[in-house]
Amino acid sequence: MGAVRAISVLAFAAQALAHGYVYRITADNTVYPGWDVRVDPLIKPAPARIAFGGGGVGPMTNISSPDMACSRNPTPAPGMTAEVRAGSNMTFYWSHWLYSHKGPITAWMAPYSGNIADVKVNDLEFFKIAEDTVDDNGVWGTVRMMDKTNHTWTATIPADIRPGTYIIRQEVCA
Ligand SMILES: *[C@@H]1O[C@H](CO)[C@@H](O)[C@H](O)[C@H]1NC(C)=O
Ligand SMILES: *[C@@H]1O[C@H](CO)[C@@H](O)[C@H](O)[C@H]1NC(C)=O
Ligand SMILES: *[C@@H]1O[C@H](CO)[C@@H](O)[C@H](O)[C@H]1NC(C)=O
Repeated sequence: MGAVRAISVLAFAAQALAHGYVYRITADNTVYPGWDVRVDPLIKPAPARIAFGGGGVGPMTNISSPDMACSRNPTPAPGMTAEVRAGSNMTFYWSHWLYSHKGPITAWMAPYSGNIADVKVNDLEFFKIAEDTVDDNGVWGTVRMMDKTNHTWTATIPADIRPGTYIIRQEVCA
């Protein structure tokens, strides 16, 4: 466990046939509200959330699109950040998922500097920190997420991460 680090969290659903959104994130044992696509877009002024706004329950189907970085129209930028210890866990709470939508789950981090509202998500350099793909029995991460962890998925911040500010990207593919 290292020094306290400030991060902000970005949650993101990717790829064909994905349906759901992240309504809550816990980071190092603190609970934060995600961007609830059903109600948060209606609140004026926009509420402070740990996740980027925008997106929706619909999937990203074009892997060449710049929207792959952070879904469609990722605004507003997060109004909250989380301070977490290296080696601590983050858990992403998904609204729902479907057995017909099988695939891997991944989490990525990218350092950023300055005001998060000025970050251009397509300029970030993400590195993968966690994945749950397919096991020896052919069972995919999405199925484990539904059967074992009640539509939540946990990733661990690398124990050796450099202190700094980061954006987290979580992706579910189907
Ligand atoms: C996919 O995205 C690329 C890059 O924005 C774009 O050029 C292409 O037209 C898109 N394809 C479809 C089918 O929308
Ligand atoms: C992180 O979560 C995993 C289970 O997903 C658990 O085994 C591990 O003990 C947790 N680590 C911490 C630091 O809480
Ligand atoms: C699963 O998650 C839902 C939504 O948060 C919750 O209402 C329900 O109690 C959870 N079920 C279990 C068995 O933890």
